[in-house]
Amino acid sequence: MADRTTDRTSERTSDEKPRLKEYEGEGITVTFEPRRCLHAAECVHGLPEVFDVSRRPWVLPDAAEPDRVAEVVRCCPSGALQYHHRAEDAVSEPPDSPTTVRRTHAGQLVIRGDLVVTGAYGDRHETRVMLCGCGASGNQPYCDHSGPCAEPDDEDVPEQR
Ligand code: SF4
Ligand code: FES
Repeated sequence: MADRTTDRTSERTSDEKPRLKEYEGEGITVTFEPRRCLHAAECVHGLPEVFDVSRRPWVLPDAAEPDRVAEVVRCCPSGALQYHHRAEDAVSEPPDSPTTVRRTHAGQLVIRGDLVVTGAYGDRHETRVMLCGCGASGNQPYCDHSGPCAEPDDEDVPEQR
């Protein structure tokens, strides 16, 4: 496990880095930012052989083809999961175009696109985020389930690991 920032642009920098867990495989490395994980669905349902919260480590990147792992990681709406292919000539995750913004009924902003998000760690180049819309999050600007979004009947946030 290693702490590593995923920043790719740096218009405003910070010495602080987000805490990431890194799961290194032969063909792909997956990183996980626990404070941003909000939605217990896409990863574990998409590839249960790779993502299994009852196991340690909970991510086994070599348990499926790297392209399939990348595909499921891109479904992670919060951006808690990221990946990079190990191949030298690999391209990084392409951002959605056009950028999309959706507000959940609890107030979170679910955004996908070519983003620069300003927060405690400076400006981070992102492709997927769930931002706090209520002001209660302790991990601004990201949602952390501190507000009304923590309600169990919120279809966008069914369970937190
Ligand atoms: S936000 Fe959802 S898809 Fe992303 S890591 Fe957490 S449980 Fe998996
Ligand atoms: S919207 Fe989730 S903490 Fe504010």
